[in-house]
Amino acid sequence: MNIPLPPMFHPSSPEGSLIGKLGNGFLIAATAVTILVIGLTIGIIRKYRQSKNDGEPSQTPGNRRLEIPMIGVPLLLVTVFFAWSMRTMNAVQPGAGDHPPDVIITGHQWYWEVVYPSASVITANEVHLPVGRRLLLQLNSGDVIHDWWVPALGGKMDMIPGTDNHLWLTIRDTGVFDGACSEFCGQQHAWMRIKVIAQPPEQFDRWLASQSAPAQAPAGRFAGFGQSLFLSASCASCHRIKGTGANGRAGPDLTHLAERGTLLAGRMVNDSANLVAWLTDPQKIKPGARMPRFILARDSIDALAAYLTHLQ
Ligand code: CUA
Repeated sequence: MNIPLPPMFHPSSPEGSLIGKLGNGFLIAATAVTILVIGLTIGIIRKYRQSKNDGEPSQTPGNRRLEIPMIGVPLLLVTVFFAWSMRTMNAVQPGAGDHPPDVIITGHQWYWEVVYPSASVITANEVHLPVGRRLLLQLNSGDVIHDWWVPALGGKMDMIPGTDNHLWLTIRDTGVFDGACSEFCGQQHAWMRIKVIAQPPEQFDRWLASQSAPAQAPAGRFAGFGQSLFLSASCASCHRIKGTGANGRAGPDLTHLAERGTLLAGRMVNDSANLVAWLTDPQKIKPGARMPRFILARDSIDALAAYLTHLQ
């Protein structure tokens, strides 16, 4: 039987590899200490257990030959791991200095806003990144404490309201890496999934350029009706669709929604039926989410979905 190892044991970033080595070091040392302590405890219990004719055992005040290694060995272990941890921290996260961030990610209840400042691109939940480039992620929160963690990429960082935290990251392999919010942040904490899509640099650059374009005009009259609904109902005050009057930042940016594989931070596959279900009763699908339930005719919901499913 082939049991796949969790991704943190085969990281796809040099930062993750350094953290992984340190973690393995701790694991080996902790296992050795546990076996030693349990072994000695059992051995001593067996050797010195009371037998019928024993009186008061002889008392031994002090034992230098035992005390020196009992203090020395733990002290040595703590010193070695302290130095190793400091070295790893300095190598992995040397601080941002005045380096501008490549990506700004903000945790919200319950989705991730992803901003690429160099291209004025805003998206959500699915984070495209180029491989082979050393990237600086700036992490913060719009409400409560969230935590960014994509195990295969190493580095786990709290996202704290009012504070910018930074994470250096170099991705070695292309592919899709799953992550999740790792700090309990309310009712839908479990549906705050991350997808990192690691692409060859040229492919990433093309993607970024395409994302900076404004949204497509609605195709057909029905989708056009959907767009006018979107702009006249309260949708536009919470969501941004670049190139239209919709400029809200309370909810996820929808400019190129149709290009994302999932909806609601991994809650559902991004398709028309799921979009209709969400628009019909958001609280049934993601209870507690800030998306209110609008009482709309079925026809209007279909028109909104027709508009949104073509935002490429
Ligand atoms: Cu965000 Cu848990």
